[in-house]
Amino acid sequence: MPFPTHRPRRLRRTPGLRSLVRETRLEPANFIFPLFVVEGEGIRKEIGAMPGNFQMSIDETVRECAVIHSLGIGGIILFGIPRHKDETATGAYDDEGIVQRATRAIKREVPGLLVVTDVCNCEYTSHGHCGRIVDGDVDNDSTLAWLAASAVSHARAGADLVAPSDMMDGRVAAIRRALDDSGFPQIPIMAYAAKFASSYYGPFREAAESAPQFGDRRTYQMDPANAREALLEMALDLEEGADILMVKPALAYLDIIRQARDRFDVPLAAYQVSGEFSQIMAAARLGWIDGDRMMMESLTAIKRAGASIILTYFAKDAARLLE
Ligand code: PBG
Ligand code: ZN
Repeated sequence: MPFPTHRPRRLRRTPGLRSLVRETRLEPANFIFPLFVVEGEGIRKEIGAMPGNFQMSIDETVRECAVIHSLGIGGIILFGIPRHKDETATGAYDDEGIVQRATRAIKREVPGLLVVTDVCNCEYTSHGHCGRIVDGDVDNDSTLAWLAASAVSHARAGADLVAPSDMMDGRVAAIRRALDDSGFPQIPIMAYAAKFASSYYGPFREAAESAPQFGDRRTYQMDPANAREALLEMALDLEEGADILMVKPALAYLDIIRQARDRFDVPLAAYQVSGEFSQIMAAARLGWIDGDRMMMESLTAIKRAGASIILTYFAKDAARLLE
């Protein structure tokens, strides 16, 4: 008969006891903050559905990075919006591309800040898809060369970690080989390994100006219904040489995060994506929920499920609350 011998409430009685037995703690060092870099100077344009997030020119991005670094945040991930888009995503793998120039500027001005680069083509193609279009669909194998060239170009600019988000088969192996052959065997790969075709990406596509002009991404991103397939994707990326695995989105996919944590012995990341951020911000603005508490609860849930690294638009706000 457990009760009255066992009374779990004993350990909840005071803040001190609750803190002592707390199983999951958030740390700014585990957060990665996404940034959207645009051409120009002095530009700081707020993204409609993502209050507090901006498209920024390189000079403003560097200023922002100093603040992010001073808050103890683990790093940033860069997304670039080029001035010109074309059929072949030229801007993605140009050494003078927007992400390459931003990376060099950040590494020069804020050298201690970890710079992750998103490796994909959708911000750079005129059609908004993540790869080369052949017969109305994204062609897998010919897209690999663009991705490999982008990753090498990011590494050459000084990126600390490259993160392919395209979901082409075999891209981790292609990128690993290209990095090794180009003198960057030390640069790790964080693979968006289990990336689902999700409605939660809506606000991001406005931020990155990367909405597909026809069709959708369901021939390359995963069906939200599939958990076993997510584990297969992660196993393949690991075999191909991924150093860190990512699940994306986060809160609606905690079961995938937990299974990945139990199965794979590499660092696990989760991306709390734009729609997850926007729905909390919107409800908070309507006064329907407590935004700060829901922010911390959602981040805690993602970490409790097993992700040690969290890419989140809340990184700065959460870091300030944790100070
Ligand atoms: C592009 C990319 C997307 C996100 C990260 N990289 C959007 C997409 O696949 O359409 C989504 C991030 C977010 O919603 O915050 N490959
Ligand atoms: Zn893409």
